[in-house]
Amino acid sequence: MHIEKVMVIGAGQMGSGIAQVCAQAGYEVYLNDLQEDIVKKGLGVIRKNLDRQVQKERITEDEKEGILGRFIQSTDLKDAENADIVIEAAVENLKIKMRIFEELDQYASEHAILATNTSSLPITEIAAATKRPEKVIGMHFMNPVPVMKLVEIIRGLATEDEVYQAVEEMTHRLKKVPVEVNDFPGFVSNRVLMPMINEAVYTLYEGVATKEAIDEVMKLGMNHPMGPLTLADFIGLDTCLYIMETLHEGFGDDKYRPCPLLRKYVKAGWLGKKAGRGFYEYR
Ligand code: NAI
Repeated sequence: MHIEKVMVIGAGQMGSGIAQVCAQAGYEVYLNDLQEDIVKKGLGVIRKNLDRQVQKERITEDEKEGILGRFIQSTDLKDAENADIVIEAAVENLKIKMRIFEELDQYASEHAILATNTSSLPITEIAAATKRPEKVIGMHFMNPVPVMKLVEIIRGLATEDEVYQAVEEMTHRLKKVPVEVNDFPGFVSNRVLMPMINEAVYTLYEGVATKEAIDEVMKLGMNHPMGPLTLADFIGLDTCLYIMETLHEGFGDDKYRPCPLLRKYVKAGWLGKKAGRGFYEYR
């Protein structure tokens, strides 16, 4: 199973990061989103990141242009016919992901792997939307993708060994470290991280401390590089809420109940850094 051409669905925070590291590793990359302006915005973010790498003399101007030359803009899922692997990074919503996978299954060539960057949703269920569940796998990158080393790899019930191996190999080529985990809600990363973030929101909601104090306690007291409320803003509060809902539904335990304040912020459109406002304000 040889991978050379990649399609990334979703040109948001994660999709643009995944597309960037793929192009930097030499893959040809179709970057897809619903509208052309969103794809262009994603490419703009990538260009800025690469400019910074040129400034720091990590890559040359020529290398930057070479990387940018490996992108093909896409607003049509039919472009999946060109890809050896599709990595989906659209919103964290099971219905939307299942619809995307159903369509991808029609267009992608027979040998193509269909991967999802879902943070928490069941790979087996997403795979069931296709007629090729053996080719479906979870490939969970961390945010920000160009910086973070980990990729959680999650097999669905039917995922073939060959597919797992190809994805593991690709992860190494992206200079990242694969860790295999089983298909349970939130996998390992978000089953452990997200209840902590949700609890931090509860401490704010219940007036235990200010947002700054909560973040400072966790930074200085637990040696975390950033406080949980800042981290939630970076992840996206909508994504945090979707993940908590998946954990709550998947395990049925009240300890996973999303904090009402988190719901309120999402309803207000305060989605975190990407929206300019979450727990904090961003320019
Ligand atoms: P985002 O909101 O920045 O980007 C999502 C993008 O998907 C948007 O540009 C949207 O227009 C696009 N989209 C929605 N429906 C689509 C469709 N049908 N076809 C094509 N594009 C579509 O969200 P973000 O943060 O990039 O998250 C994307 C996925 O990555 C989610 O599943 C999330 O759970 C996962 N993830 C997020 C992490 C984070 O820290 N934000 C970390 C790891 C995984």
